[in-house]
Amino acid sequence: MLAKIISAANIGLDANLVTCEIDISSQGLPSFTIVGLGDRAVEESKERVRAAFRNSGAEFPLHRITVNLAPADMPKEGPAYDLPIALGLLLASGQVISNPEKLDLENTLIAGELSLDGSLRKINGVLPLAILAKTRGIKRMIVPKDNGVEAAIIEGLEVLAPESLQQLVRILLGQESLEFVERPVINLEDGLSYEYDFSQIKGQESAKRALEISAAGGHNILLKGPPGAGKTMLARSFPSILPPLTFEEAIEVTKIYSIAGLLDSNNSLVTTRPFRSPHHSASYVGLLGGGNNIRPGEISLAHRGVLFLDEVAEFPRQSVESLRQPLEDRRITISRASGSISLPAQFVLFAARNPCPCGFLGDKKRNCACMPGQIAKYKRRISGPFLDRIDIYLEVPPVEVEKLSADLEVESSAEIRKKVTAARKIQLDRFKGPPAGRAGKILTNSEMGNKDIKEHCTLTQEGLDLLKMAVSSLNLSARGYHRVLKLSRTIADLATSENIQAEHIAEALQYRAREES
Ligand SMILES: Nc1ncnc2c1ncn2[C@@H]1O[C@H](COP(=O)(O)OP(=O)(O)O)[C@@H](O)[C@H]1O
Ligand SMILES: [Mg+2]
Repeated sequence: MLAKIISAANIGLDANLVTCEIDISSQGLPSFTIVGLGDRAVEESKERVRAAFRNSGAEFPLHRITVNLAPADMPKEGPAYDLPIALGLLLASGQVISNPEKLDLENTLIAGELSLDGSLRKINGVLPLAILAKTRGIKRMIVPKDNGVEAAIIEGLEVLAPESLQQLVRILLGQESLEFVERPVINLEDGLSYEYDFSQIKGQESAKRALEISAAGGHNILLKGPPGAGKTMLARSFPSILPPLTFEEAIEVTKIYSIAGLLDSNNSLVTTRPFRSPHHSASYVGLLGGGNNIRPGEISLAHRGVLFLDEVAEFPRQSVESLRQPLEDRRITISRASGSISLPAQFVLFAARNPCPCGFLGDKKRNCACMPGQIAKYKRRISGPFLDRIDIYLEVPPVEVEKLSADLEVESSAEIRKKVTAARKIQLDRFKGPPAGRAGKILTNSEMGNKDIKEHCTLTQEGLDLLKMAVSSLNLSARGYHRVLKLSRTIADLATSENIQAEHIAEALQYRAREES
């Protein structure tokens, strides 16, 4: 007897269909073989399926069993084939039947891990599977209970999410009624809770303005200042002024969290922009991603959100340098034995650092206790090419005591967020058309290439004059020149100005990296 079950394999962020063919033959000695380029977890599936059968009152066929996971040349990983194999065995041995009227298993994508007692365990990467099912016109999915809501995010897909093999069998035998998982209510404005609101930050007006520009145009930012200036606080308040995720962005981000296994069953859609703050002891793989069963790194978990590198000079130089390529490409390619995969990594880099190891270099009130050699070494941690990828560079002074105690009316995050969202809207409209000579879609000014800059950064005559003067007097490099243009485009957008004016250029120039002294 032969049964066929549709399942799927995650490859990077996308999924491919896998057909599980299960053949039971009464010829020859009892055996159980799985072929089709499975890894250890797939091989061990045999033991889980056997035990799950025994413990759920099903009869394990004592015959010659062959399972083929097709296509045979595509590697299959993980325990998600347990359920399709188990169901295929039940079908092939006649213990359940596919009922086209109630539940035809032919038009159903099935994935799930089995416990020895027959209960179904949550698996990673269900959202990409659901997207695949939808695009391939598959009507329904059967997944573990804890993955149900995640699959049901995709509209128009029937999702059955039993808690165990026993329950699924009862449903298929008509002994228990089946109920599809309800599609969750998706509210991308909801769940916005922040550590700090901008209104709690006293003084630091220019830093707040810089954050506003960074949020509006997606510009990478570096704050430098003494300990206690509020750098960490500013960074942690940054998500509160970012525009809400669009549904497409939320799906993109959720896919990454899904394959990373970071979704919990009552929080199946990522609805807020990620804010990741890896420690400086984070490993290379932890930052960039990789490993045998591909784990997205911090840079991919920060996709469409913020990667915060606090005390960036404490990070090993190699870690900081390794970010250069993904900052440029906005993706990361991870190679491994079974082929390379590419994960998105489009984030705003938010870096903070002290001026020197003790933190008081250049302080008017306190003396720096560092040796010159120490200071030089500290600075070398951050290379020029890395700084080149930072659009906004700002020195943050210590917060003034009078301002800390003063009860001033300051703008709340909600107000700034409104301005940021309006500026993003201008950018979305601007980049709606096909981008100049590149594949990926542009959402923000920071992503403009030189061609886009030429097309979209029109200056007034005064603006042009000022920029020319800056190029010669400030010795701006070509990169620096383009950076100023992109930044002034965002500043002009915040001011809803069609053309870039001299004042926008002037402000953008303030944020260039000064000669490190
Ligand atoms: N501008 C500010 N307004 C209100 N509180 C501040 C401000 N700057 C610093 N603080 C307070 O000082 C603490 C230390 O700030 P922090 O962000 O850790 O400084 P840094 O990271 O620059 O060393 C914060 O938790 C906050 O309570
Ligand atoms: Mg800090």
